Amino acid sequence: MSMSKAARTINATAFSYISSWALLTAAELRVFDHLPARSQDLSAISPDPDLVDTWMLTLADAGIVFNNEGVWNQTDDMATLLSGDNSYVDYLGGQVMQQMTPRLTLGHTGENVLASVLANPASRRGYQGWFADPDEARAYQSSQHAGSLGPAKALARALPDPTGRVLDLGGGWGAIAQAVAKRHNVDVDVVDFATVVSSAPAGSERVKFLAGNALDPATWPEQAYDGVVLSYLFSSIPGSAQEPLLAALADRGVQWIAIHDFMAGSGRWASAWSLQHAVFVPEHRSRSADAIGAMLNAAGFDTVSSAPLIDEMTTLVVGTRG
Ligand SMILES: C[S@@+](CC[C@H](N)C(=O)[O-])C[C@H]1O[C@@H](n2cnc3c(N)ncnc32)[C@H](O)[C@@H]1O
Repeated sequence: MSMSKAARTINATAFSYISSWALLTAAELRVFDHLPARSQDLSAISPDPDLVDTWMLTLADAGIVFNNEGVWNQTDDMATLLSGDNSYVDYLGGQVMQQMTPRLTLGHTGENVLASVLANPASRRGYQGWFADPDEARAYQSSQHAGSLGPAKALARALPDPTGRVLDLGGGWGAIAQAVAKRHNVDVDVVDFATVVSSAPAGSERVKFLAGNALDPATWPEQAYDGVVLSYLFSSIPGSAQEPLLAALADRGVQWIAIHDFMAGSGRWASAWSLQHAVFVPEHRSRSADAIGAMLNAAGFDTVSSAPLIDEMTTLVVGTRG
């Protein structure tokens, strides 16, 4: 690699926080709902059109907006993703900006959180500690729900055809469960922490929300399940708890397990999102899709398929019994 290529490679990562913050702020301030607009038309957001210009030019360089004769605009596809109710901006401006970035960067105290967790890994409190505060759980889940609605449809399509009730462990507010219930016409039970399920929005009659702990099978419903979905659960629990969890599900007689998550080596953003979880999940482990497939094999699920789900970010690994 030449020196100039090395410098470009470093800068591409070192400075991407600027365009990222410009986008997250645009999501928080819902600027995309106001486009097309000139900078001076955005006076409700800022009285300084020159400042808005600089902000929008950053977003234009990142390919998010474009300028046509002084008017800032977005393509139809961008508008679909970034404007209106229940759009991707709810997730970017909500969970990503408000709750995730402070857990990785400078926190609420100005201290470098990543550096401090590297020095003291035992300080991580996990989702259980985080969601002990019901307001935090609600804020997180409302934007997680918005973020999971799109992937939920793709995940539901990719499942083995369920022949009976499905369990969604760590299912949050049920975006995946609703999509599975709808596509396959089956009942789905969502198990998550009490603070999460107690505030879940009413969904279809086919989806039930139950308080429980994925790490404690005694808290799972006494119920036979055809299959189980674990969407982002492996990123959310200690690595040492993953094998016992699969063994407990196998003991319950499930016919398939679908694991959807950030997996090492599975794209540009997969490890980045693992790191975002590793800073607050105790004993977090990054695993590749192959390693997860091997764990499913060891738990008795001999046929394993693996495919990307969210481009450059997540993989779906499904294990089924023979
Ligand atoms: C990233 S969210 C994913 C939510 C949902 N599965 C989805 O794909 O949209 C991780 C979820 O795992 C849940 N979770 C983490 N640890 C858990 C545990 N020990 N028991 C139950 N749920 C847990 C969290 O409360 C949260 O809802």
